[in-house]
Amino acid sequence: MRPKICVPIVASLRDEILRQAETISTLPVEMVEWRVDFYAGYEKEIGSIVQELKRWLMDKELIVTIRTESEGGEPNGSRFDYFLVVEEILQQGIADYVDLEVARDERKVSELCRRYAESYTKVIGSYHDFSATPSGEEIVRRLTLAKNCGCAMGKLACMPAKREDVDTLLNGTAAMKEAEPEFPLITMSMGELGVVSRLYGGLYGSEVSFGCVAQTSAPGQISYEEMRQVFERIYRGNRHIILIGFMGVGKSTISRELMHQSSRPEIDTDQWIEEREGRTIADIFAEEGEEYFRDLETAIIDDLGDRKPAIISCGGGMALRELNVRKLQAMGNIVLLTAKPETIFERVRHNTNRPLLNNNMNVEYIAELMEKRRPYYEHAATVTVATDNKMISEIAKEILEKCF
Ligand code: S3P
Repeated sequence: MRPKICVPIVASLRDEILRQAETISTLPVEMVEWRVDFYAGYEKEIGSIVQELKRWLMDKELIVTIRTESEGGEPNGSRFDYFLVVEEILQQGIADYVDLEVARDERKVSELCRRYAESYTKVIGSYHDFSATPSGEEIVRRLTLAKNCGCAMGKLACMPAKREDVDTLLNGTAAMKEAEPEFPLITMSMGELGVVSRLYGGLYGSEVSFGCVAQTSAPGQISYEEMRQVFERIYRGNRHIILIGFMGVGKSTISRELMHQSSRPEIDTDQWIEEREGRTIADIFAEEGEEYFRDLETAIIDDLGDRKPAIISCGGGMALRELNVRKLQAMGNIVLLTAKPETIFERVRHNTNRPLLNNNMNVEYIAELMEKRRPYYEHAATVTVATDNKMISEIAKEILEKCF
């Protein structure tokens, strides 16, 4: 699902807060978060500022948040009586959401959710960790806790130390979404490393992504415009036919036939990468290594969403990364082509343009690598078509029948 884009209002003075709201009111974003901890004025004015904000922002949803320093907020946040302000916002019932850090006091959060169950203002139960990323189980546990406290939405923002932490955050989000499909989530991995989660979290079940207009309110926020550009490409839902499967399974040949039978254009990801890089796949592997090539694969998928419905033939390793699979699933039907290792061997034995097979050109190696990849391919596929002993035209016909 395409996440809503939320941008922050971060100013210390009332006039500046309202000026930012006025600017944001004309922007193509769906949500706005007023970070009260940036505000340097009187606590008793908070309610009236919320009223004015909502007037400026009209149909945009408003989240009111006080984040104290230990939760990544500004020193100002500690001047306010946290629960008193939150309760006033709930009583007032004008903002769409108020953010509450669940770990601060679970019982109090439950009590407020119960007492104000009828308020127009709903509670977002949040969890922040600015030093680390918890395990997948802990992510699910934290979000479940927010749900059990009666919050209308669960939010989790963590700092990654390494790339795998971003995967943990995204996969933890997907696990929670699977366990509680009706409970809305906002999750993100912060900092430079985590940018990927702000762009692609929607593919894993996060419903809101925080960008910025000028000033950021958390590490790693990128501009709302950049976010929109990627969202436009990823969540357009163009119904491409996407071919995946092992090297030599016949993706390119079948893709050509599909192009003729369906009158759609054809895109070959390997070819596309070679053209962009101005060198062959074998040279990219030799000069930059496999990881570099895999990053190119992940990056080019975003450009596919822009195209009119096409036949997309993917390199054999494209389905190995979960992020690639999620992006592709948002764009069309993923068709897995299969063949026996012996068939593959016969087809590729005289080729030298596949660096992974160059020194391993034998049936045993092909069978072993194929077996390793099988779970990834099967997980990604929406449709599977066996190609052994079938004519190309027959395979293409079968694919078109299964995709429409
Ligand atoms: C690869 C498959 C190749 C190409 C690269 C890596 C793989 O594409 O992307 O050599 O890891 O399976 P084909 O499947 O089109 O040969």
